[in-house]
Amino acid sequence: MDRFLVEGGRKLKGTVKAGGSKNACLPILVASLLTDEPFVLHRVPNLRDVRTTLKILTALGKKVTFQDGTVTITADGALKNTLPYELVKQMRASFWVAGPLLARFREAVIPLPGGCALGARPVDIHLKGFERFGAACQTESGNVILSADKLEPAKITLRFPSVGATQNLMMCAALIPGETVLENVAKEPEIDDVTAVLNKMGAEIFTDDKGRLVIRGQHTLHGTEHTVVADRIESGSYMILSAAVRGDVRVEDCVPEHNSILLECLQEAGVPLEVGPDYVHVKPYDTPLKPTRIKTAPYPGFATDLQPQWMALMALADGAAEIDETIFENRFMAAPELVRMGADIVTEKTLARINGVKELSGAHVMASDLRGGFALLIAGLCAKGTTEIERVYHIDRGYEDPEGKLNALGAKVTRYNPDKDEF
Ligand code: EPZ
Repeated sequence: MDRFLVEGGRKLKGTVKAGGSKNACLPILVASLLTDEPFVLHRVPNLRDVRTTLKILTALGKKVTFQDGTVTITADGALKNTLPYELVKQMRASFWVAGPLLARFREAVIPLPGGCALGARPVDIHLKGFERFGAACQTESGNVILSADKLEPAKITLRFPSVGATQNLMMCAALIPGETVLENVAKEPEIDDVTAVLNKMGAEIFTDDKGRLVIRGQHTLHGTEHTVVADRIESGSYMILSAAVRGDVRVEDCVPEHNSILLECLQEAGVPLEVGPDYVHVKPYDTPLKPTRIKTAPYPGFATDLQPQWMALMALADGAAEIDETIFENRFMAAPELVRMGADIVTEKTLARINGVKELSGAHVMASDLRGGFALLIAGLCAKGTTEIERVYHIDRGYEDPEGKLNALGAKVTRYNPDKDEF
């Protein structure tokens, strides 16, 4: 398995271009199941999770090509409506296929996504929504069996604004003729991108004056062409990284307003920023980094997907910082690894207290999830000496060519595989 060798203490300067959003393109790729017509998606990042999703679409019977950031999907005979466990176990987002398959076939057999490092991650909100459409949901030997004689539009209130459940139910409703209303939905920008695609396919989806998602479903949906929105989590990750190394980095091709809370927190911490229409320039500074208190929340709150990276930044703050992780029950896995690098972090349930230290030192560490892995990259770039990061495949799930982007800024990050490379 690949590892990163990270040389600490180098000055970083230059430009990073944000890629297309992983968390928008995954559901959008799945939306291609709603039609047999050609479906073209541009600005698709070359990530492990994207390649897994393309394997899933192929396993379901689609013909897929992926070239220079563009994915082209066409029908290749009849679609299947069962998914191999092999693929589901690699990525929870594969469960998003349930909505489209149920809508098209009135029957689908999908392996239940197991938990992951972040926690149990149940799918009860998805299943309750499918039941409200008239489907029967049974779980049997690790699979969810969805079946319905007829699907009816419904008014559904989500008990929690789950991103995945919102997308799964939207996609299902888009092929149920009539008006479905979803209440207490997720408001992440990725949802807007999925909405834009479904509307281009012929659905009629809008947000009413009460903030509810109204979906006027159709009998059939067309193919379409779309360009994925910028990845706000990749953009935010590089902004935090630049602040941590006190570099001079301009993150381009991003949507600053999708990171507005992060920008406020960076400014509160004393990090100088220049914010343009499609870029954020994080500037060098030699004043103390001020500790802050953040609480993760559904959008537009502080993104849970930026929390581990923020923790790495606060490890070097001038005082005591606090993080309250309200979304996932176990998202402090980077903490013990950062402590091994000299950070002073105490976690208790969903609260983390970080007492900033003067310096981190390079160490041999292990990534356990994609955002925590990026946090270790940030710490390694700040630390004195060299850091070796194991299980880089976690980082590859959500970041395209991280070492290429970082080395172009002046970093020295080397990818190697001890089982293969002589290093
Ligand atoms: C999406 O996951 C993202 N993944 C996650 O990004 C992100 O952390 C998360 O939203 C929250 O923003 C993709 O978009 C592919 P949720 P999702 O359903 O949809 C609980 C990354 O780093 N819940 O909003 O799975 C759940 O356990 C990844 O890119 C239920 O209890 O997140 C969690 O505690 C990590 N029942 C909370 O809600 C359900 O039926 C938020 O989950 C569904 C969710």
